[in-house]
Amino acid sequence: PRVAVVFGGRNSEHAVSLMGAGSVLDAIDRDKYEVIPIGIARDGRWVIASAAQSYAIEAGRLPEVDASGTALALPADGGSLMAYDAGTIPVELGAVDVVFPVMHGPFAEDGTIQGLLEMAGVRYVGSGVLASAVGMDKAHMKTVMAAAGLPIGPYVVVRERDWRLDRERVIKEAESLGYPVFVKPARAGSSQGISRATDRASLEAAVELAREHDPKVLVEAAVAGREIECAVLESLGDEPPAASQPGEVRVEGGQDFFDFEAKYYPDQMSLDVPADLPADVAERVRAMAVLAFQTLECEGLSRVDFFYTPDGGIVFNEINTMPGFTSLSVAPQLWAASGLSYPQLVDRLVQLALS
Ligand code: DAL
Ligand code: MG
Repeated sequence: PRVAVVFGGRNSEHAVSLMGAGSVLDAIDRDKYEVIPIGIARDGRWVIASAAQSYAIEAGRLPEVDASGTALALPADGGSLMAYDAGTIPVELGAVDVVFPVMHGPFAEDGTIQGLLEMAGVRYVGSGVLASAVGMDKAHMKTVMAAAGLPIGPYVVVRERDWRLDRERVIKEAESLGYPVFVKPARAGSSQGISRATDRASLEAAVELAREHDPKVLVEAAVAGREIECAVLESLGDEPPAASQPGEVRVEGGQDFFDFEAKYYPDQMSLDVPADLPADVAERVRAMAVLAFQTLECEGLSRVDFFYTPDGGIVFNEINTMPGFTSLSVAPQLWAASGLSYPQLVDRLVQLALS
């Protein structure tokens, strides 16, 4: 089968996507699959990725799609991709059996590329349009997960119109959560645009920062607790989706939370797998992770993040329908510790998309 690995994209997780794609391109079985690497440049152009492409953070510089590769039109109908070579002559790349969008954030993990691929009739790895869209939007995600009975921390949604016209009321509502609060763009990832606010001035600054990513912003009460993450994988047969061992992520440096640097620069974060939890707590985490996956009707792989509070409670934080996917990222490591190696995980996801 021909697999197009698509990465990059028009969003603030562009570099994160490349790091994951680099791992997938290294791990995918080339005896079994014909692999076509496709980058989406920062300006949205699709290109056949060049061999000179760098996929890693090098000397502190984040990787970026090299837009000088052969340009592609968006996927046409019938599962084919059209390439335009030498300026104007269309070159048929031929049918693609499956697209693996190793991409995160808006225009990547939010149902938009999934919709494009549905329209083109091309199979793809991961969740469909609805699960992706709801999973990307932290406000709708919480509404849906709360309706399914998952415990959610207190939060306030700050909408663009209210922030412009009714700011005092919005701030009052947010302050009723009690400081500190975490302020997040509704639709972003990898902690981009997230900050912690401890008073009114820092709250206003935090909302403005988040608004650089999304006009819709969430203010969340800080939940004291350990950060426990669990990956869920669809089964190839009729069995329900399976949960990995839960892991615990810990910040090594002095940061307040898992910011972008902690997540992607070396040696800033550590992961304990399995998390040191009482057996019944680990089982509850796994059951809740599967419930979250099933509630959104996810496909492929998701990572579900929780807080384990000092009183023994488990609070749902979020689901990521296309979790960070380098071989050292949390979800692949959780599966590796649960008996599925990274190359096996990549193969499973492609097989799930083909099945
Ligand atoms: N949004 C990043 C990639 C994650 O959830 O892992
Ligand atoms: Mg996320």
